[in-house]
Amino acid sequence: MSRVRTALRTAPAVETSDPFAADVIAGLAGKPKRLPPKYFYDAAGSALFESITRLPEYYPTRSELALLGAHAAAIAALFPPGCALIEFGSGSSRKARILLGAAASVGAYIPVDICGEFLQQDAAQLRRDFPHLTIRPVVADFSTLTELPPEIAAPPRVGLFPGSTIGNLEPHEAAQFLRRVGVMLGAGSLFVVGVDLVKSPDILYRAYNDAAGVTARFNLNLLARINRELGADFDLAAFEHHAFYNGERNRIEMHLASTRRQKVRVCDATIEFRAGETIHTENSYKYSVDSFQALAQGSGWSPLAVWSDGLFSVHALRRTDDR
Ligand code: SAH
Ligand code: AVI
Repeated sequence: MSRVRTALRTAPAVETSDPFAADVIAGLAGKPKRLPPKYFYDAAGSALFESITRLPEYYPTRSELALLGAHAAAIAALFPPGCALIEFGSGSSRKARILLGAAASVGAYIPVDICGEFLQQDAAQLRRDFPHLTIRPVVADFSTLTELPPEIAAPPRVGLFPGSTIGNLEPHEAAQFLRRVGVMLGAGSLFVVGVDLVKSPDILYRAYNDAAGVTARFNLNLLARINRELGADFDLAAFEHHAFYNGERNRIEMHLASTRRQKVRVCDATIEFRAGETIHTENSYKYSVDSFQALAQGSGWSPLAVWSDGLFSVHALRRTDDR
């Protein structure tokens, strides 16, 4: 009884129009406590993610860059002439650069990312490197985006979703997202999606528990961000990074575990933690080639081609309606 009463005390109930504050309060009031992974990516979190991509243990970026480099011409050959390339969760646009370099047929590049700081910096450099291209960055949550900029009102369009960011969505959300992107990109569209593969749990464990502790800093930055932006008083020294492979659900889970019993003030709420209680901050689902193709097929996309090195896969999909 007392556990229920003390799990979350709000004085008074928190009312806010800030979606970040609302999601944080709702997530920390839940059982189990959780926070949406999209909030990892403020300027500090995006920089930490870039450091993760260069870690010896974090194979996905190296694998995908190598696959895109080796097969850029074959992928670019699938692009309809005069298409716009729209990337969801573009980050540093490193992967798009490979395709833009190989595909003379692309007329516009639209990087979509929730992190505005990174997006504007990269757009300036992309304009210098690809002066013939229309570059139109969009700061948005790709889960709710329904409209594309007027500059690319006319199809054909090619979607790009690299990095296995699709693995950070629950499978039902990934299916909804694939369906919505099909509607948004329209007739004749192609979708290139990078997907991390199911593999040895040891390799997966190391990729999310690097020796240098960068992934731990990335995870803890979420609490630092809540302190910075919402004036909360998380003691970062009292939370630990936990990442492990859940083999039943084919996913890496990341959590932040409270090392002791403690209370934290967030907005006007008091959040209570038991020793060892965790905040679930991310899932990173892993697919087989077949299970991802089945997900895509059930969401309006037909598999056209797949490239893989056994660790990671890059899929080319065509809208099923257009066959
Ligand atoms: N595409 C890059 C970056 C992957 S990291 C690569 O493959 O290396 C995930 C990226 O997606 C980050 O840049 C993050 O800011 C962005 N992101 C995560 N969730 C998002 C969301 N809901 N809407 C828009 N961007 C999101
Ligand atoms: C962006 N995303 C696919 C990364 C992943 O592997 O799930 C984010 C990440 N989390 C910890 N390390 C990297």
